[in-house]
Amino acid sequence: MNNIICGNGSDEILSMFANCFAGEGDEIVYSEHGFLVYPIAAKAAGATPVVAKEKKYKADVGEIINVCTKKTKVCFIANPNNPTGTYLTKNQLITLRKKLPKNCLLVIDSAYAEYVEKDDYTNGFELVNKFNNVACTRTFSKIYGLAALRIGWAYASLEVIDYLNRIRLPFNINTIAQHAAIAAIKDQQFIKKAIKHNNIWKPFIEKELINLGVQIIPGVGNFVLAKFNNPKKANDCYNYMEKHNIFVRKVLEYGLADCLRITVGLEKENTYLIKIITDFIKNN
Ligand SMILES: Cc1ncc(COP(=O)(O)O)c(C=O)c1O
Repeated sequence: MNNIICGNGSDEILSMFANCFAGEGDEIVYSEHGFLVYPIAAKAAGATPVVAKEKKYKADVGEIINVCTKKTKVCFIANPNNPTGTYLTKNQLITLRKKLPKNCLLVIDSAYAEYVEKDDYTNGFELVNKFNNVACTRTFSKIYGLAALRIGWAYASLEVIDYLNRIRLPFNINTIAQHAAIAAIKDQQFIKKAIKHNNIWKPFIEKELINLGVQIIPGVGNFVLAKFNNPKKANDCYNYMEKHNIFVRKVLEYGLADCLRITVGLEKENTYLIKIITDFIKNN
Protein backbone atom coordinates (compact mmCIF):
# COMPACT_ATOMS: atom_id res chain seq x y z
CA MET A 1 0.00 0.00 0.00
CA ASN A 2 2.83 2.39 0.87
CA ASN A 3 4.24 1.97 -2.63
CA ILE A 4 1.06 3.31 -4.22
CA ILE A 5 -0.24 6.81 -4.74
CA CYS A 6 -3.64 7.68 -6.24
CA GLY A 7 -4.41 10.61 -8.46
CA ASN A 8 -7.27 12.48 -10.05
CA GLY A 9 -6.73 10.38 -13.15
CA SER A 10 -3.21 9.16 -13.91
CA ASP A 11 -2.75 12.52 -15.70
CA GLU A 12 -2.52 14.19 -12.31
CA ILE A 13 0.23 11.80 -11.28
CA LEU A 14 2.12 12.33 -14.55
CA SER A 15 2.06 16.07 -13.77
CA MET A 16 3.20 15.36 -10.23
CA PHE A 17 6.20 13.45 -11.57
CA ALA A 18 7.15 16.40 -13.76
CA ASN A 19 6.64 18.94 -10.94
CA CYS A 20 8.43 16.85 -8.38
CA PHE A 21 11.48 15.76 -10.34
CA ALA A 22 12.03 18.50 -12.93
CA GLY A 23 11.94 22.27 -13.13
CA GLU A 24 13.50 25.19 -14.93
CA GLY A 25 16.68 24.18 -16.72
CA ASP A 26 15.78 20.47 -16.66
CA GLU A 27 14.63 18.29 -19.53
CA ILE A 28 11.92 15.68 -19.82
CA VAL A 29 12.22 13.11 -22.59
CA TYR A 30 9.36 11.41 -24.40
CA SER A 31 9.05 9.73 -27.78
CA GLU A 32 7.99 11.26 -31.08
CA HIS A 33 4.39 10.04 -31.15
CA GLY A 34 4.15 9.68 -27.38
CA PHE A 35 1.14 10.64 -25.28
CA LEU A 36 0.80 14.44 -25.37
CA VAL A 37 0.28 14.96 -21.66
CA TYR A 38 4.06 14.49 -21.27
CA PRO A 39 5.13 17.75 -22.99
CA ILE A 40 2.23 19.57 -21.30
CA ALA A 41 3.33 18.32 -17.88
CA ALA A 42 6.96 19.18 -18.68
CA LYS A 43 6.14 22.74 -19.74
CA ALA A 44 3.83 23.32 -16.79
CA ALA A 45 6.71 22.29 -14.52
CA GLY A 46 8.96 24.84 -16.25
CA ALA A 47 11.08 22.06 -17.78
CA THR A 48 11.90 21.56 -21.45
CA PRO A 49 10.21 18.68 -23.27
CA VAL A 50 12.66 16.81 -25.52
CA VAL A 51 11.45 14.52 -28.28
CA ALA A 52 13.22 11.27 -29.20
CA LYS A 53 12.65 9.97 -32.73
CA GLU A 54 10.70 6.75 -33.16
CA LYS A 55 11.34 3.87 -35.56
CA LYS A 56 8.31 2.45 -37.34
CA TYR A 57 5.96 4.31 -34.96
CA LYS A 58 7.64 2.74 -31.97
CA ALA A 59 9.76 4.30 -29.22
CA ASP A 60 13.46 3.54 -29.74
CA VAL A 61 15.81 2.99 -26.83
CA GLY A 62 18.89 4.20 -28.76
CA GLU A 63 17.18 7.42 -29.87
CA ILE A 64 15.96 8.12 -26.32
CA ILE A 65 19.46 7.65 -24.91
CA ASN A 66 20.91 9.87 -27.68
CA VAL A 67 18.79 12.86 -26.64
CA CYS A 68 19.51 12.48 -22.91
CA THR A 69 21.81 15.02 -21.27
CA LYS A 70 22.87 15.89 -17.73
CA LYS A 71 19.66 17.90 -17.55
CA THR A 72 17.33 14.95 -18.25
CA LYS A 73 15.35 14.28 -15.07
CA VAL A 74 12.33 12.29 -16.27
CA CYS A 75 11.67 9.94 -19.18
CA PHE A 76 8.02 9.17 -19.93
CA ILE A 77 7.15 6.04 -21.92
CA ALA A 78 3.57 5.02 -22.58
CA ASN A 79 3.61 1.25 -22.85
CA PRO A 80 1.66 0.56 -24.98
CA ASN A 81 1.54 4.04 -26.37
CA ASN A 82 -1.51 6.11 -27.21
CA PRO A 83 -2.16 6.71 -30.14
CA THR A 84 0.20 4.24 -31.88
CA GLY A 85 -0.53 1.16 -29.75
CA THR A 86 3.10 0.03 -30.05
CA TYR A 87 5.10 -1.15 -27.05
CA LEU A 88 8.62 -1.77 -25.79
CA THR A 89 9.33 -5.31 -24.61
CA LYS A 90 10.39 -6.06 -21.05
CA ASN A 91 14.01 -6.50 -22.19
CA GLN A 92 13.96 -3.21 -24.07
CA LEU A 93 12.60 -1.43 -20.98
CA ILE A 94 15.35 -2.96 -18.84
CA THR A 95 17.98 -1.85 -21.37
CA LEU A 96 16.44 1.63 -21.37
CA ARG A 97 16.55 1.80 -17.58
CA LYS A 98 20.16 0.67 -17.47
CA LYS A 99 21.27 3.18 -20.13
CA LEU A 100 19.36 6.20 -18.80
CA PRO A 101 21.21 8.48 -16.41
CA LYS A 102 20.75 7.17 -12.85
CA ASN A 103 19.18 10.41 -11.64
CA CYS A 104 16.58 10.35 -14.43
CA LEU A 105 13.31 8.78 -13.31
CA LEU A 106 11.80 6.35 -15.82
CA VAL A 107 8.01 6.61 -15.75
CA ILE A 108 6.31 3.69 -17.46
CA ASP A 109 2.74 4.70 -18.24
CA SER A 110 0.83 1.42 -18.43
CA ALA A 111 -2.64 2.91 -18.98
CA TYR A 112 -3.53 0.13 -21.46
CA ALA A 113 -1.66 -2.72 -19.73
CA GLU A 114 -4.73 -4.89 -19.14
CA TYR A 115 -5.27 -5.33 -22.88
CA VAL A 116 -1.78 -6.67 -23.60
CA GLU A 117 -1.34 -10.42 -23.68
CA LYS A 118 2.13 -10.69 -25.21
CA ASP A 119 4.73 -12.86 -23.49
CA ASP A 120 7.49 -10.30 -23.93
CA TYR A 121 5.42 -7.51 -22.32
CA THR A 122 5.63 -6.24 -18.76
CA ASN A 123 3.25 -3.81 -17.08
CA GLY A 124 6.36 -2.38 -15.42
CA PHE A 125 5.90 -3.80 -11.90
CA GLU A 126 8.99 -6.00 -12.23
CA LEU A 127 11.09 -2.97 -13.06
CA VAL A 128 9.70 -1.00 -10.13
CA ASN A 129 10.60 -3.93 -7.86
CA LYS A 130 14.12 -4.03 -9.24
CA PHE A 131 15.03 -0.35 -9.65
CA ASN A 132 14.26 2.47 -7.23
CA ASN A 133 14.29 4.98 -10.10
CA VAL A 134 11.39 3.48 -12.05
CA ALA A 135 7.71 4.31 -11.52
CA CYS A 136 4.68 2.90 -13.19
CA THR A 137 1.27 4.57 -13.68
CA ARG A 138 -2.10 2.87 -14.10
CA THR A 139 -5.64 4.08 -14.62
CA PHE A 140 -9.29 3.23 -14.20
CA SER A 141 -10.05 5.24 -17.34
CA LYS A 142 -9.36 2.58 -19.97
CA ILE A 143 -10.42 -1.04 -19.50
CA TYR A 144 -12.39 -0.17 -16.35
CA GLY A 145 -14.32 2.48 -18.28
CA LEU A 146 -14.32 5.07 -15.47
CA ALA A 147 -12.54 7.93 -17.28
CA ALA A 148 -15.00 10.62 -16.22
CA LEU A 149 -14.70 9.66 -12.55
CA ARG A 150 -10.99 10.57 -12.67
CA ILE A 151 -8.97 7.99 -10.81
CA GLY A 152 -5.54 6.56 -11.51
CA TRP A 153 -2.57 5.40 -9.50
CA ALA A 154 1.16 4.90 -9.52
CA TYR A 155 3.44 2.22 -8.13
CA ALA A 156 7.01 3.15 -7.20
CA SER A 157 9.68 2.89 -4.52
CA LEU A 158 8.87 4.26 -1.05
CA GLU A 159 11.30 7.09 -1.73
CA VAL A 160 9.59 8.18 -4.96
CA ILE A 161 6.10 7.87 -3.42
CA ASP A 162 7.26 9.90 -0.44
CA TYR A 163 8.38 12.75 -2.73
CA LEU A 164 5.06 12.70 -4.59
CA ASN A 165 3.10 12.75 -1.35
CA ARG A 166 4.87 15.94 -0.35
CA ILE A 167 3.28 17.80 -3.28
CA ARG A 168 -0.02 15.88 -3.50
CA LEU A 169 -3.04 17.94 -2.52
CA PRO A 170 -4.63 16.27 0.51
CA PHE A 171 -8.07 15.62 -0.99
CA ASN A 172 -7.16 14.84 -4.60
CA ILE A 173 -9.43 11.80 -5.00
CA ASN A 174 -13.14 12.25 -4.47
CA THR A 175 -15.20 9.69 -2.54
CA ILE A 176 -17.37 8.60 -5.47
CA ALA A 177 -14.28 7.79 -7.55
CA GLN A 178 -12.76 5.83 -4.65
CA HIS A 179 -15.89 3.71 -4.19
CA ALA A 180 -16.28 3.16 -7.93
CA ALA A 181 -12.65 2.06 -8.27
CA ILE A 182 -12.93 -0.39 -5.37
CA ALA A 183 -16.10 -1.89 -6.85
CA ALA A 184 -14.47 -2.03 -10.30
CA ILE A 185 -11.38 -3.88 -9.02
CA LYS A 186 -13.65 -6.51 -7.49
CA ASP A 187 -15.38 -7.10 -10.83
CA GLN A 188 -12.60 -8.93 -12.66
CA GLN A 189 -15.20 -10.83 -14.71
CA PHE A 190 -15.90 -7.54 -16.48
CA ILE A 191 -12.19 -7.12 -17.26
CA LYS A 192 -12.00 -10.64 -18.70
CA LYS A 193 -15.07 -9.89 -20.83
CA ALA A 194 -13.58 -6.63 -22.08
CA ILE A 195 -10.29 -8.34 -23.03
CA LYS A 196 -12.17 -11.08 -24.86
CA HIS A 197 -14.30 -8.51 -26.69
CA ASN A 198 -11.19 -6.56 -27.71
CA ASN A 199 -9.48 -9.74 -28.92
CA ILE A 200 -12.39 -10.37 -31.28
CA TRP A 201 -13.20 -6.89 -32.52
CA LYS A 202 -9.78 -5.22 -32.83
CA PRO A 203 -8.61 -7.87 -35.34
CA PHE A 204 -12.00 -7.56 -37.09
CA ILE A 205 -11.56 -3.80 -37.61
CA GLU A 206 -7.92 -4.26 -38.64
CA LYS A 207 -8.73 -6.98 -41.18
CA GLU A 208 -11.60 -5.01 -42.70
CA LEU A 209 -9.46 -1.87 -42.99
CA ILE A 210 -6.64 -3.79 -44.66
CA ASN A 211 -9.17 -5.27 -47.11
CA LEU A 212 -10.23 -1.73 -47.91
CA GLY A 213 -6.63 -0.76 -48.64
CA VAL A 214 -6.19 1.26 -45.44
CA GLN A 215 -2.90 0.60 -43.68
CA ILE A 216 -2.88 -0.09 -39.95
CA ILE A 217 -0.10 0.38 -37.41
CA PRO A 218 0.05 -2.93 -35.51
CA GLY A 219 -0.72 -2.12 -31.89
CA VAL A 220 -1.81 -3.83 -28.70
CA GLY A 221 -4.30 -1.40 -27.13
CA ASN A 222 -8.07 -1.22 -27.53
CA PHE A 223 -7.82 0.98 -30.60
CA VAL A 224 -6.57 0.83 -34.16
CA LEU A 225 -4.34 3.47 -35.71
CA ALA A 226 -5.53 3.65 -39.32
CA LYS A 227 -3.09 5.19 -41.80
CA PHE A 228 -4.53 6.71 -44.96
CA ASN A 229 -1.12 7.85 -46.30
CA ASN A 230 -2.69 11.20 -47.15
CA PRO A 231 -3.74 13.84 -44.60
CA LYS A 232 -6.62 15.07 -46.78
CA LYS A 233 -8.05 11.58 -47.11
CA ALA A 234 -7.78 11.01 -43.35
CA ASN A 235 -9.50 14.32 -42.72
CA ASP A 236 -12.24 13.65 -45.29
CA CYS A 237 -12.84 10.21 -43.80
CA TYR A 238 -13.08 11.79 -40.33
CA ASN A 239 -15.67 14.28 -41.58
CA TYR A 240 -17.64 11.55 -43.34
CA MET A 241 -17.71 9.44 -40.19
CA GLU A 242 -18.68 12.44 -38.07
CA LYS A 243 -21.59 13.10 -40.42
CA HIS A 244 -22.69 9.53 -39.70
CA ASN A 245 -22.38 9.90 -35.93
CA ILE A 246 -19.05 8.07 -35.59
CA PHE A 247 -16.54 9.99 -33.52
CA VAL A 248 -12.95 8.86 -33.84
CA ARG A 249 -9.75 10.69 -32.91
CA LYS A 250 -7.77 12.96 -35.21
CA VAL A 251 -4.09 12.67 -34.33
CA LEU A 252 -2.67 15.64 -36.21
CA GLU A 253 -1.00 17.08 -33.11
CA TYR A 254 0.81 13.76 -32.63
CA GLY A 255 2.54 14.30 -35.97
CA LEU A 256 0.17 11.76 -37.54
CA ALA A 257 -1.90 13.92 -39.89
CA ASP A 258 -2.58 11.01 -42.24
CA CYS A 259 -3.91 8.76 -39.48
CA LEU A 260 -7.06 8.35 -37.40
CA ARG A 261 -7.28 6.51 -34.10
CA ILE A 262 -10.34 4.32 -33.92
CA THR A 263 -11.36 2.83 -30.58
CA VAL A 264 -12.98 -0.60 -30.58
CA GLY A 265 -16.70 -0.27 -29.86
CA LEU A 266 -19.65 -2.57 -29.38
CA GLU A 267 -20.35 -5.19 -32.04
CA LYS A 268 -22.99 -3.12 -33.82
CA GLU A 269 -20.80 -0.01 -33.64
CA ASN A 270 -17.85 -1.86 -35.17
CA THR A 271 -19.88 -3.27 -38.05
CA TYR A 272 -21.48 0.14 -38.64
CA LEU A 273 -18.01 1.76 -38.59
CA ILE A 274 -16.78 -0.60 -41.30
CA LYS A 275 -19.90 -0.02 -43.38
CA ILE A 276 -19.38 3.76 -43.25
CA ILE A 277 -15.65 3.57 -44.01
CA THR A 278 -16.42 1.19 -46.91
CA ASP A 279 -18.91 3.75 -48.31
CA PHE A 280 -16.28 6.48 -47.92
CA ILE A 281 -13.51 4.50 -49.63
CA LYS A 282 -15.79 3.49 -52.54
CA ASN A 283 -16.67 7.11 -53.21
CA ASN A 284 -13.22 8.67 -52.75
C1 LIG B 1 -1.18 6.59 -22.44
C2 LIG B 1 -2.10 7.31 -21.53
N1 LIG B 1 -1.70 7.61 -20.30
C3 LIG B 1 -2.49 8.25 -19.43
C4 LIG B 1 -3.76 8.66 -19.79
C5 LIG B 1 -4.55 9.45 -18.80
O1 LIG B 1 -5.56 8.76 -18.25
P1 LIG B 1 -6.32 9.27 -16.96
O2 LIG B 1 -5.80 10.62 -16.56
O3 LIG B 1 -7.75 9.34 -17.35
O4 LIG B 1 -6.03 8.24 -15.91
C6 LIG B 1 -4.24 8.39 -21.07
C7 LIG B 1 -5.57 8.83 -21.48
O5 LIG B 1 -5.86 9.15 -22.58
C8 LIG B 1 -3.38 7.70 -21.96
O6 LIG B 1 -3.79 7.41 -23.20
